[in-house]
Amino acid sequence: MKTRIAVLVSGGGTNLQALIDARDRGELPHGELALVVSNNADAFAIERARKAGIPVALCLREKGAPRADFEARLLDILSENRIDMIVLAGFMAILSSDFVARYPERIINIHPSLIPSFCGEGFYGLRVHQAALDYGVKVTGATVHYVNEIPDGGRIIAQKAVDIQPDDTPETLQRRVMEQAEWILLPRATEEVARKINSDLSS
Ligand code: GRF
Repeated sequence: MKTRIAVLVSGGGTNLQALIDARDRGELPHGELALVVSNNADAFAIERARKAGIPVALCLREKGAPRADFEARLLDILSENRIDMIVLAGFMAILSSDFVARYPERIINIHPSLIPSFCGEGFYGLRVHQAALDYGVKVTGATVHYVNEIPDGGRIIAQKAVDIQPDDTPETLQRRVMEQAEWILLPRATEEVARKINSDLSS
């Protein structure tokens, strides 16, 4: 039995694509990409999932609607699909501590910096790379970590460094961090955690 993985997305889904490509190369032997959940009906990630034959569920939070209702629906979707592990791949919503407590060491996230730099609430998308450039660091990177009740605060699973070039913009840096770190790191870490969950479930 493989670990059943749900990938949660909100946008372009290049990290989802990296997972699909790894699966197709046989590099995800302990995990099954069983479901993609999007909280954005227009996310291009949905197309990627459909093309790869992965079922898609939409879980939308209406403006002003309570987070608890959104999370209750998300929990229903996950349990209906017998999900063992959750990968946050560009998922633009912070999950409550009640939610994450239900999946201890079963939720992982990819963040586009070397945690503990440039992370936590408000550090998402291009803002992370802008902050690294503003600070003047010469090296940044990406981090895969477990998700707990502290935003970007869970135990680190893997990190990869990326050099910053003198003429970088937030956009060029974002792209290099994805190519040189995120798309390599996330599939590897996903397989590592899926293997661990798999052995926990079968013992
Ligand atoms: C990535 O930079 C990821 O690190 C961050 O959000 C972005 C998502 O990009 N959490 P994509 O949707 O996977 O292309």
